[in-house]
Amino acid sequence: MRIVLVGPPGAGKGTQAHVLAKTLSIPHISTGDLFRANISQGTPLGVEAKSYMDAGRLVPDEVTIGMAKDRMLQPDAANGFLLDGFPRNLGQAEALDAILAENGIALDGVLDLEVPEDEVVKRIAGRRLCRNDGAHVFHVVYNPPKTEGVCDECGGELYQRSDDTEEAVRVRLEEYHSKTEPIIGYYQQQGLLVTISALGKVDEVTERAVAALEKNK
Ligand code: AP5
Ligand code: ZN
Repeated sequence: MRIVLVGPPGAGKGTQAHVLAKTLSIPHISTGDLFRANISQGTPLGVEAKSYMDAGRLVPDEVTIGMAKDRMLQPDAANGFLLDGFPRNLGQAEALDAILAENGIALDGVLDLEVPEDEVVKRIAGRRLCRNDGAHVFHVVYNPPKTEGVCDECGGELYQRSDDTEEAVRVRLEEYHSKTEPIIGYYQQQGLLVTISALGKVDEVTERAVAALEKNK
């Protein structure tokens, strides 16, 4: 299956993608995680992306599209993938369509996670990520690790993202409304859009997501 996850910052895209990717046996491709891995390795791409990310702004398409394309064309993604955080504007959605067409493949669905803004702010404020794997995501209240500051999945150290400040989150929400939301209409026109509420417990949202994707097949 080839699926795109859309939703505001803090909606739970990464959390759901981690579980769904395991359930569907496809790789979870997060452009945010790819950028953060480049930042921690100090690559030129990471250096370029960091200033945009810390400000809450989108990284330019020239950088993002090539990185996403390289990852999508890795052998482990040959039979499907779950995209989290890409595409994020109409230019990226069109670029993705071109990449899919070049490779004779197509999307099976676009899952839109709906969450009210006050909930998103609470989710982001308490988020903690694992240094070893950005897909290991916790929340100090909603999804606490068994031991404070330690990842349940791999024992890695948990940290707070440098773009999870009040100011950067405000900018990320603005970027979401002005640049990312238009892709929802784009995918609706293509008959690919499935919208679910992302409120409730993590496993309840997963059940809703699986049922919605099945129905859309
Ligand atoms: P990215 O890393 O993609 O961040 P984002 O879209 O802002 O989304 P988040 O990671 O904040 O949230 P999420 O929806 O994954 O929620 P999570 O599962 O963590 O992008 C970061 C930056 O990178 C961008 O600002 C941009 O600069 C750059 N970038 C990335 N992709 C780009 C692109 N394509 N183009 C240009 N620039 C790009 O959950 C949040 C919290 O809630 C967690 O603590 C979690 O434990 C908790 N939680 C999850 N589900 C539930 C639940 N059901 N109930 C209660 N709590 C929950
Ligand atoms: Zn971990």
